[in-house]
Amino acid sequence: MNLSLVAVLALTLVSICVAQYKSIPLLLAERTAWKPNDGAPKQPWRSRPPLLRKPIRRPVPSRQPYKQLLENLRQRYPRPKEVLREHYQQQVRDFNLTASAKDVKLRNYFDTLYSGLITIGTPEQQFDVAFDTGSPMTWVPSIHCPPEHFGYKYRTYNNASSSTFQANGKEFEAVYDLGFVAGYRSQDTVTVAGLTIQNQTFGEAIIESDLFSNSRTDGVFGLGFSNEEPTVFDNLVNQGLLPAPVFSFYLNKLDIPGPDSVLTLGGTNPEYYTGDFTFINLTATDRWQFEIDNFRVQLSNGDVLFMGSGSPAIVDSSTSLIFGPMEEVDVLNRKLGAKPLPGHVSLFEFDCSELDSLPDFEFYVNGQKLSISSKDYVLKIFLYGTDLCYSGIMGRRWKESETPVWFLGLNFMRAYYIQFDKGNRRIGFAKPKY
Ligand SMILES: *[C@@H]1O[C@H](CO)[C@@H](O)[C@H](O)[C@H]1NC(C)=O
Ligand SMILES: *[C@@H]1O[C@H](CO)[C@@H](O)[C@H](O)[C@H]1NC(C)=O
Ligand SMILES: *[C@@H]1O[C@H](CO)[C@@H](O)[C@H](O)[C@H]1NC(C)=O
Ligand SMILES: *[C@@H]1O[C@H](CO)[C@@H](O)[C@H](O)[C@H]1NC(C)=O
Repeated sequence: MNLSLVAVLALTLVSICVAQYKSIPLLLAERTAWKPNDGAPKQPWRSRPPLLRKPIRRPVPSRQPYKQLLENLRQRYPRPKEVLREHYQQQVRDFNLTASAKDVKLRNYFDTLYSGLITIGTPEQQFDVAFDTGSPMTWVPSIHCPPEHFGYKYRTYNNASSSTFQANGKEFEAVYDLGFVAGYRSQDTVTVAGLTIQNQTFGEAIIESDLFSNSRTDGVFGLGFSNEEPTVFDNLVNQGLLPAPVFSFYLNKLDIPGPDSVLTLGGTNPEYYTGDFTFINLTATDRWQFEIDNFRVQLSNGDVLFMGSGSPAIVDSSTSLIFGPMEEVDVLNRKLGAKPLPGHVSLFEFDCSELDSLPDFEFYVNGQKLSISSKDYVLKIFLYGTDLCYSGIMGRRWKESETPVWFLGLNFMRAYYIQFDKGNRRIGFAKPKY
């Protein structure tokens, strides 16, 4: 893990894990609908023994905000658990595992997280991972982590049953705002979309904070930039398995009919977009980042709000929503008519009947306009027997020493078919077909 990325990763992956910020419904789904490990005793992080040689001390993420929110929701929408379970299962689209080569089919969880399958080892051990443009490291849980540390997970990598395993042993640590994972590196064969990468270094997670151990996915597939060993994507390119150092995302929306979400490795898939790409050059060498000239919203009364001039923005596939500076974003949400959710920092809710009248979010980048409509930026989720509509933009505070970096998460990405062109250091946007 490149620790200089820690600040950048501040919000990365939160969507997998929820807690203070978002994806509340996701965690609810985790807790009610999917519990293969029901029998395993859950231990609080604090009581876990240090398993690495060097104990890692990090602030324990607070679960309080999440608990409060959950309680608020329960009081507002009391429903029996069985009914909920059905709703969750209906909302999580079925996942067809026979994807064609180079396409990775992605499973959509409540529009807040997309994951797909990879394998590690010989014979293959399968893992469900989140594909993360915001971080470089690929990691999965290790069999050497005691099972009670894994929450709801059940897949672990077993080096002893892989004939292609090679020891590495160097520690890795991926630290995020609200959680972390740590363990050691190993090397093995990795397959993704039918492509086989040899001698791939990856992380075996030994310790995961609750945020990760409660996640529905097993691990993370890093599509970011690494200054250390080559990422899986780098090796796909280095080992000649891809025609071009490009990957592209088509992300579906649960309430709009269309094909399953797909990550295409090595190029773009014309089945999922129309027209030409608008390209924007990257403004950083180590992230999928460009600079926004302006973020503009024209309110229904004609007032125009501008913010974010000259701010860096990262296109981040493991953040559910858009994040900008808290004070300004909170003002915007209020002006749009959203109400703050009690007991929660910067999460706002819309009346679902008003979505059609909401204005577009417009990002101006390099003279080009990237526009997303309310049907994309509002996170609408059927939960507790009713639709809930969360504002798709949340505020975040940065330390004075940090540059405020906008995060353009999955709701932004759904509005476009997006190609990430590592060779030309640019990101391309096209109109999705669905
Ligand atoms: C999965 O996809 C393949 C190829 O597109 C198709 O032939 C097969 O019928 C699908 N299976 C299911 C269960 O939908
Ligand atoms: C698997 O990993 C464990 C812990 O790192 C190590 O002790 C063991 O030797 C490894 N197994 C093989 C077959 O190398
Ligand atoms: C992987 O490692 C093995 C053993 O060290 C070596 O023979 C092989 O050439 C390597 N393959 C690649 C693609 O680097
Ligand atoms: C983007 O980068 C390419 C190659 O470095 C360059 O030719 C092009 O002019 C740049 N485009 C803009 C709009 O800066």
